[in-house]
Amino acid sequence: MPHGCIAGTGLAVPERVVTNDDLSKLIDTSDEWIRQRTGIEQRHWAVEGETGAGLSKIASERAFAMAGITARDLDAIILATSSPDHFVPGNGVFLQRLLGVGTIPALDIRQACSGFIYSLSVADAWIRAGMFRRILVVGQEIQSTGMDVSDNGRNTAVIFADGAGAVVLEATEDPNRGLLAFDLHSQGEFAEMLWVDSPGSMYHPEISHKDLDEGKQYLQMDGKEVFRHAVTRMPESVNAVVGKLGLGTGDISLLLAHQANLRISEMVQRKLELRDDQVYNNIQKYGNTTAATVPILLDECVRGGRVKQGDLIVMTAFGSGFSWGSVACRW
Ligand code: COA
Repeated sequence: MPHGCIAGTGLAVPERVVTNDDLSKLIDTSDEWIRQRTGIEQRHWAVEGETGAGLSKIASERAFAMAGITARDLDAIILATSSPDHFVPGNGVFLQRLLGVGTIPALDIRQACSGFIYSLSVADAWIRAGMFRRILVVGQEIQSTGMDVSDNGRNTAVIFADGAGAVVLEATEDPNRGLLAFDLHSQGEFAEMLWVDSPGSMYHPEISHKDLDEGKQYLQMDGKEVFRHAVTRMPESVNAVVGKLGLGTGDISLLLAHQANLRISEMVQRKLELRDDQVYNNIQKYGNTTAATVPILLDECVRGGRVKQGDLIVMTAFGSGFSWGSVACRW
C-alpha cells in the first residue's frame, strides 16, 4: 500500500519585519518582557495587498521547485489556516486559482495551531486509500490584520504573526521512508481558552456593533492555561507517536515543535530529555505563525542541511480547540 512522503518544502513570509521595539511604540510592552516571556525578537506582518493565498503560492512554488514538479502535477490541495482571506469560501480555492491548476479538489482545515499536522494526516490517508498520489499541503496565516494592537490585546499581539509553509506529499511504496505514524487528539472542553468568539452563527446577528465594541472579534487567550496544557500534551503525543514505531525519544533525529513560545519549546525538550541538536526553534525570527510554524521549521531545516536521509523527524503541535498531535516521518 502506498503512503505519503515529503518531496519538497517551501516557506514565505511578508517582507515587513516588526521588532519588539516597534511594538512597544504601539502598546505598553517592552523588548525585554517579550524576549523573556516568549523568546520572540521579531515577526513578519503583512502590508496591504499581501494575502494568505499569495504567500501560500510563493511557499508552494518553492516546494514544487525542490520536488522537481509543477503545479499541474498536483492531484489535490489541502490548506490549513485559521485566518482565511475571506470568511467563505476557504483559502484552498484561492490558492488553487493563483496556481492555475484546473479543477483539482482544494480542502481547508481549520485546526489552528495543529492544522498542518492534521492536514498531513488527511493527505496521507488519501494517498493510502489510493485516491490521489501527489498532494500540496500548506499551513498559512495572516493574523496581524485581525489582532488587537492595543494595551488590551498585548498578551496576544506580541506573539502572533504571519507566514506560510508548504510541502509536496507524494506516494511512495518504500516502507522505510515518509510519514510512518500519527497521533491526533482534541479536547473541546477547553475551547474558550484560545478562541475568537464572534462572528458566530449562534448569535443573532452573528456580529453586532456591541460585540465589536467589546472586542469579541479578537483572539482571546488564557495564556497560563494554554502554557500548562501545551507542555503536557506535546511531550505525551511525541512519546505516543514514536511508541507506535516501537522507538523511543532517543531515536528522534529532529523534533520540530509548534512555535507557540520558546519557553514552551524548551520545556517540551526538557520533558523529553532531548539534546540541543535534536531540536530546532525559529520563533525568535517569526513569532507564532499558528498553522505555518511547523512547515516553516521543516523548510528551514531541510534547506539548512539539518536533515539527512534516514533521519527520524517528529513534528508536533498544540493549540486552539484544544487540539494537538504529532507525526513521525523517516526522511
Ligand atoms: N507586555 C508587557 N506586559 C504584559 C504583556 C506584554 N505584552 N502581556 C501581559 N503583560 C502583563 C500582564 O498584564 C500581567 O501584568 P500584572 O501582573 O500587572 O497583571 C503580567 O504581564 C503577567 O501576565 P500573565 O498573563 O500572567 O503573564 P504570563 O507569565 O502568563 O505570560 C504569556 C504571558 C502569554 C507570554 C504566557 O502565558 C504564554 O506564553 N502562554 C502560552 C501562550 C501561547 O503559547 N499561545 C499560543 C498557543 S498556540
